[in-house]
Order: sequence, then C-alpha cells, then structure tokens
Amino acid sequence: MVAFEGVSKRFAAGRTSAEVAALDGVDLIVPRGSVTGIIGRSGAGKSTLIRLVNGLEKPTSGRVVVDGVNIAGLDEKKLRDVRRSIGMIFQHFNLLASRTAFDNIALPLEIAGIDRPTIEKRVTPLLDLVGLSDKRDRYPSELSGGQKQRIGIARALATEPKLLLSDEATSALDPETTRSILALLKTINKELGLTVLLITHEMEVIKTIADHVAVIDGGRIVEQGPTFDVFTGHTHATTRSLLGGLAGLHLPEFLTRQMVEKPEPGLRTILRIIFKGENATEPMLARLGSDLGIEVNIMAGAVDEIAGRPFGMLVVSLLADEAKITHARSFLADHGLSSEVVGYVR
Ligand SMILES: Nc1ncnc2c1ncn2[C@@H]1O[C@H](COP(=O)(O)OP(=O)(O)O)[C@@H](O)[C@H]1O
Ligand SMILES: [Mg+2]
Repeated sequence: MVAFEGVSKRFAAGRTSAEVAALDGVDLIVPRGSVTGIIGRSGAGKSTLIRLVNGLEKPTSGRVVVDGVNIAGLDEKKLRDVRRSIGMIFQHFNLLASRTAFDNIALPLEIAGIDRPTIEKRVTPLLDLVGLSDKRDRYPSELSGGQKQRIGIARALATEPKLLLSDEATSALDPETTRSILALLKTINKELGLTVLLITHEMEVIKTIADHVAVIDGGRIVEQGPTFDVFTGHTHATTRSLLGGLAGLHLPEFLTRQMVEKPEPGLRTILRIIFKGENATEPMLARLGSDLGIEVNIMAGAVDEIAGRPFGMLVVSLLADEAKITHARSFLADHGLSSEVVGYVR
C-alpha cells in the first residue's frame, strides 16, 4: 500500500539551528491490509515519515509511493485528490470546538462539496461504528478524551479512505481507553479492510495491534518485519531498549546488585530463557534436573502476548560448571528455547 524507496528528508538550517537530517535512506513497505506500526523515541523522525505519506512534507530525495502513485511527483490539485483517500488521526484529536460531533465528522465531506443528504447517510453509520450515536449533537468540550478520538476516527473515515494514518493517536489517553481505541482500529482494519499505518513511542500499542513493525532511530529504519519476529528476536539495541517495559527483559534489582560478569567456581549462572508459546518450559526445566543433574532456581519471569501470540521470558539460576551450562543450553536449544547467560551470582 505504501513504499518508501531510499527516502531522505533534511530540514534546512535556520538562523540559530543546524541542518537536521530527519530521515536518512528509509526503505519501508506497508503491506496492503496490514496494521503497520513504526516505533521510535521522540525525535526519531516518526512524524516526518508519516507526513511524507500524505504529502504534508516532500522528501529531499527518494520516492514515497502510495497505492502506486509517487506522492512527491504530484501537483497541489492531484495531491488533494490523493489526500481524500488517506485518513489521519492525531494525538490531540484536532476537533473543531465550535462544531458538534456530527458536524466534525461531516467536515471533510463538506469541504469535498458533498450534498447534505449524502453527508447524513455517510455520517450516521460512522457515529454508530465508533459507538457514539447518542453523542451526535455534543460539542468536543462535552466529550471525554476517548470519545473525542472516536470522533476523530469517524472523521478520518468519512471520505472512505483506503489508508488510515495515526500519529500517536492514543498517547494522550489512559491505558484502558487506549485499549478500546486500539480495538476499534483493529475492527476497522479487519471489517473495512483499511490499511493502517501508525506511529507511536509506546510498546503496548505495537504489541496489541500491529502485525508489522518498523523500528526507527535517528532517522533510519533499524529493523522491520512481522511484529512477533522483530520483538522476539530482539537483535537491535534500539529495539531492545524500546522493549524495556516488556515483562522479564529487565532483571530484578536484587539480582543485578549481586551479579558479576565473570564465572568463578561456586558461582551460579544466571540464564535468561526465551520461549515462544509453542514450547512449554516447565518440563524442560524439570529435565535439566532429572536428565542433566543440574539444579535450577527460578528468579523471575513472565508471559506476555505479542501480535496475539504468547511470548515469555524466564530468568533462572543454575548451579553447574561451564561445560554443563553449555550442555544445558544446547539441550534447551534442541527443544526450541533460546537462552543467554546474563551473569553470575553467589
Ligand atoms: N519543520 C521542521 N523544521 C526543522 N526541523 C524539524 C522539522 N520537523 C521536524 N524536525 C526535526 O526532525 C527530527 C525528527 O522530528 P519528528 O519527525 O517530529 O520526530 P518524532 O515524531 O519521531 O518525535 C527532529 O530532530 C525534529 O526537531
Ligand atoms: Mg512525532
């Protein structure tokens, strides 16, 4: 649906500021019908990236192709037509305070010169879709944050777009409201077949809704692919730090305090074991004891869900020499469990 091909974006130096390379050689594919997430820290270039999709910014070099059309090559009039097929939602909703919920949703249709009866026919089911039929005559000041975002979503859908862009749409909402908005976006993706491209700094958002993800850092895409693969492979340092909140990735304080980096006779080895749903760990841990004669203590662990699939980490300590540890790790690997030595404790 969207392809970035060698896209770079520089903002020229200002009177008191240096030139900024906001994006640097970005190659990125947003599959049609997917929910694709782009995650990165503040200032990584996420908003710049998404603004290139609807032509609010032009790339310094490279191409941004949306549904077969190179956006940068369009004149203003053609760009307006393309924008109608792209909806966008924002962190601060951007509703007009002087317009009711209904009239906010109707706005893009009015701008497109659509007649009143057609507008009525379009907006009413959208209010229903976002669960706010009873709020049609309310003003934004009379709505909660979550309700405002629902109106923002309905407005973005009014022109029947093929692509929905979301710039931190849940960042101003509490966790529970965030979940309900993400569920709504997923429904829209599934039932209306809309491709959704969302950018966020929140791991939770990606984990919950994105089937594809790209990790951006300093204007470069450092990793991309199916969400589960990217986040359970955790190869890149940026991805790892963004995953920080994920259960089990951070070692408990009591462990790190007493941990040393080098093995010594008599020290226990701290092993982090990663399991991906299909591979139950429990019998494996028991067998480390019964088959290999290694004593196993569980120190920390948790199971989480990424893109609908279970994913867990377990931190264990093993009392065994290096040869036995190596043996234990290859035994685990033979059963589909990856592991890493994170340190040693007494
Ligand atoms: N219009 C602009 N003029 C100059 N610099 C900009 C402009 N827009 C963004 N930047 C800079 O580009 C970088 C990326 O910004 P942005 O895309 O907004 O990041 P994010 O959305 O990931 O927080 C930042 O260093 C920001 O200061
Ligand atoms: Mg931003």
